[in-house]
Amino acid sequence: MTRTIVITGGTHGIGKALAHHHAARGDQVVVVASGSRPHEDTPGIRFVRCDLSSLRHTHDLVNRLATEHPVIDALILAAFRFNPVRVVTEEGFEHTFALYVLNRHVLAEGLRGPLERAAAPVIVNLCGAGQGGRIHWDDLQLTKSYRPLTATMQGARAGELLGAAYVAERVRYVLYNPVFVATGLHEPFRQPLRGIVRAASAVFAQPVSRAIPPIAALVDRPPAEPLTMWRRGRRLAHAVDVDEARRFEETVRALSDRRRPG
Ligand SMILES: NC(=O)c1ccc[n+]([C@@H]2O[C@H](COP(=O)([O-])OP(=O)(O)OC[C@H]3O[C@@H](n4cnc5c(N)ncnc54)[C@H](OP(=O)(O)O)[C@@H]3O)[C@@H](O)[C@H]2O)c1
Repeated sequence: MTRTIVITGGTHGIGKALAHHHAARGDQVVVVASGSRPHEDTPGIRFVRCDLSSLRHTHDLVNRLATEHPVIDALILAAFRFNPVRVVTEEGFEHTFALYVLNRHVLAEGLRGPLERAAAPVIVNLCGAGQGGRIHWDDLQLTKSYRPLTATMQGARAGELLGAAYVAERVRYVLYNPVFVATGLHEPFRQPLRGIVRAASAVFAQPVSRAIPPIAALVDRPPAEPLTMWRRGRRLAHAVDVDEARRFEETVRALSDRRRPG
């Protein structure tokens, strides 16, 4: 049976490779990206343009996807942008928080219905899980002191907490850290850092083609447990503070709902 797989950030890097992998296997793939990178039409892959850093556009996307696809087998969350300097979205959020945290929460919650109707539904959140990030409770939007790594690590920790707080009957939630994959990580940087990251990537990063099989395997055969955490294909033990997960989910829900249209 043809499966429907939605991939945010499916026009570049890991998301793009997964889109091609699943389309080649006969799945119906919907890729979502802002369109700032070129996208070529490929059989079996439908492109939907959406700026996922916008809550308004993300809520509209959820409505559209849920209407067009009553059954969604997999939601792969791979849209990401590394922001060397602090960027604020039109809705007033720090951009990393908007794209990496709010967007992923709204999609996972909003598409719960279509996911629950699938035979073996799974959400794969590609992130930096298991690397010790923390939530800056006193300044979630990092207004006082912004560092790109701080924002990225906070987003990674947010994924762990939101995964732990995700309640579903049948949907499996997979936190997957691909670690260091050669997807053009040098691109956001200016010289000389750009050259250094490019050189490090050439030596240490895993080629995209090697990063894909373990992720695709989790999409094809989701784990039995509701939440699992993985690092480059290896299962990690995870112990998330349940109270912090609940508190964070409530905080993110309140922020997301404030911007719900209508
Ligand atoms: N690569 C690594 O080493 C690594 C390590 C750890 C975790 N990860 C995680 O793995 C995932 C994929 O990483 P990657 O390196 O493959 O990413 P990537 O190559 O940089 O691709 C990012 C994708 O996100 C899309 N995107 C960016 N901003 C967007 C926006 N505002 N709205 C909609 N789409 C947007 C981009 O398309 P547009 O520009 O057209 O929007 C692109 O398709 C990310 O979640 C990342 O956190 C990667």
